[in-house]
Amino acid sequence: MLRAVDVAVEVGGRKTVVGASFTLQPGDKVGLIGRNGAGKTSLLKVLAGEAPAVEGTVTRKGALGYLNQDPRRTAHVAEVTALQHVLGGRELDEVVVRMEKLRLRMEEDPTEANVQRHARATDEFERKGGYAAESEVRRIVAGLGLAADRVDLPLRVLSGGERRRVELARILFGGSDVLLLDEPTNHLDVDAKTWLMGFLRQYRGALLVVSHDIELLDEAITRVLHLERDPHADGGSLTEYKGTYTQYRTARALDEKRLAKQAAAQQAEVVRLSTLADKMRGQGGQRTRKAKVLDHRVERLEAQKIDAPKVERHISVKLPDPPHAGRVVLEVADLAKSYGGPSIFEDVTFAIEKGERLLVMGLNGAGKTSLLRILAGQTEPDLGEVRFGFNVSVGYYAQEHENIRAGTTLLEHIQEHRAGTLSELRGLLGMFGLTGEMAFQDAGTLSGGEKTKLSLALLTAGRHNLLLLDEPTNNLDPPSRAAVGDALASWKGAMVIVSHDPEFVRELRPQRVLLMPDGTLDYMSDDMLDLVALA
Ligand SMILES: Nc1ncnc2c1ncn2[C@@H]1O[C@H](COP(=O)(O)OP(=O)(O)OP(=O)(O)O)[C@@H](O)[C@H]1O
Ligand SMILES: [Mg+2]
Repeated sequence: MLRAVDVAVEVGGRKTVVGASFTLQPGDKVGLIGRNGAGKTSLLKVLAGEAPAVEGTVTRKGALGYLNQDPRRTAHVAEVTALQHVLGGRELDEVVVRMEKLRLRMEEDPTEANVQRHARATDEFERKGGYAAESEVRRIVAGLGLAADRVDLPLRVLSGGERRRVELARILFGGSDVLLLDEPTNHLDVDAKTWLMGFLRQYRGALLVVSHDIELLDEAITRVLHLERDPHADGGSLTEYKGTYTQYRTARALDEKRLAKQAAAQQAEVVRLSTLADKMRGQGGQRTRKAKVLDHRVERLEAQKIDAPKVERHISVKLPDPPHAGRVVLEVADLAKSYGGPSIFEDVTFAIEKGERLLVMGLNGAGKTSLLRILAGQTEPDLGEVRFGFNVSVGYYAQEHENIRAGTTLLEHIQEHRAGTLSELRGLLGMFGLTGEMAFQDAGTLSGGEKTKLSLALLTAGRHNLLLLDEPTNNLDPPSRAAVGDALASWKGAMVIVSHDPEFVRELRPQRVLLMPDGTLDYMSDDMLDLVALA
C-alpha cells in the first residue's frame, strides 16, 4: 500500500505539485497523466523515496518496485549478467551465495548446528521460489522480448532498450506490493507490450504507471490521476478520475466545459454587479450603502474565482525546407559490425535517393541503432563503406539523447547548430514548447519528453536534407507526437527511420523497408505496416 498526504514536490526551486493526496490499495491500477514537463517523473521519484517531499508525507507498506524513465540510469551493475540482475529482484542471488557457503561449512564440519543452518538457507531458497526462479526469469524476459541468448550476457554489452527490458523484468520478478512504472512501454514492441499489459492486468499489488501509451492506459488501468500545472498558483494539482484513459478523456472534457461555463457565468455576474454598483454609487443615501453591499459581493466572487481551464497549448512544428542535394543522397556498401563477438549484421548494402524514406525494421538487438550510429559517423563499421551524395547534410536523432549534455543550457545547445539572434533561437525552441526561461535551463535537468523536444529542435536548427531518426516519438505526449508526425510527414528531405510506433510510421509513409539483421530491402506494403509494431 502507498499513501500520499498533502504532498508537494519541488524541482529546480519551483513547485510542480502541491496538495497531492491519494491512496494506492492492492489491486488499484492507476495511470498518472499530464503533459510533458508537468512533473510526473518528479512526483514518482518522491513516491519511490528517491527524492524528499517538500511538504506532506508518503507512507509505503510492503516491497516497492520502481522503474525509472531514463534507461541510462540502469547501467550501474554492468558486470553482472542479465539473469543474475533479474534474480537479484528477489534477493535470490544473495541466497544462492549464502546457501553455497553453508553447504561447504556443513561438509567440512557436519555438526547439528551447521546442518540446521544449511537447511534453513535451503528452506528460504525454496520459499522464495528459488528452484523455479531461473525458468520464471527466462519466461518473463522472453515475454518482454529479449532474445534468449542475451540473458546470459553482462548488462554492459546490452543496448539501451535491452537494459530497460532487463530492469523491467527485475522489477516484475521481484513480486513487489507496489509498482511505480515510468513509461514502461518505451522501447517495447507490440508483442512485449501485449505481454506486459497481460502481466499488469493479473498483478494483485498496487500499480501507478506514467505512460503516453494510450493502449496501455486503456487496457491496464482503472483510475486516472490527472496532473496539471496551475497557471496562477505555485505548483500543479492532481484530479482523480475513475475508469480507463478513454473514459477519463470524456470526463475531463465535460469537466473542462463545465468549468469554462461556470467561469464565464461568474465573470458575467461580476461585470453586472460592478456596473450596477457604479451606477448607484453617486446617488447618495440608501443607494450608496447598497452599492457598498454589491462591492462586497463582487469581492467575494473574485475571491472564489473559478479558473477557466487553460486551453492545452499545442506545439506547432515547421521544418525548414531541405537544402538542395544531388540525386543519390546516401550509398552504403557491404557494411558489417560486431562488438567483439559474432557480427550483428553483415553485407548491408543500400542507397537512398533525394526525398526518399527508408524504414529500418528488426527485433531488439538486430543492430538498428548500430546502423544509424555508423551512418551518423559516431561508430566505425568493421567492414564496408558509407558515402554521402553531393551537398548532403545529415541530422541524427539519437535514441537515448546522447547528444544532450548536462551542464549546458538549451540555448547553448541550439547555438552549436545555428547562428542567429537570441529571439530567433528562442523562437525555435518555443516551436517545440520549450518556452520562456527554459532557454537558460540546464539541459541535463529536462524531463524525458522535453529532451526529445530539444533533440528535435536541434535537428530543425541544423538545416539538413537527410535525417536519421531513432525512435523519435518516445516520451512525447499525444498532442506533441501528432505535431511532430505532421511536421515530418510534410517535410521533403530524405529519412532513415527506426520506430515501433505504427501511427507514426503510417503517417510518414516510408517507401522502402530495410530488414535487419539480414539487410534485405523491400517495398513498403500494408502487410509490412502491420509488422512494424511487431518488429
Ligand atoms: N533543475 C531544474 N531547474 C529547472 N527546471 C527543472 C529542473 N529540474 C527539472 N525541471 C523541470 O521540472 C519539470 C518537471 O519534470 P518531470 O521530469 O517531472 O516531468 P514529466 O511530467 O515526467 O515529463 P515527461 O512527460 O516529459 O517525462 C520539467 O519542466 C523540467 O524541465
Ligand atoms: Mg517523465
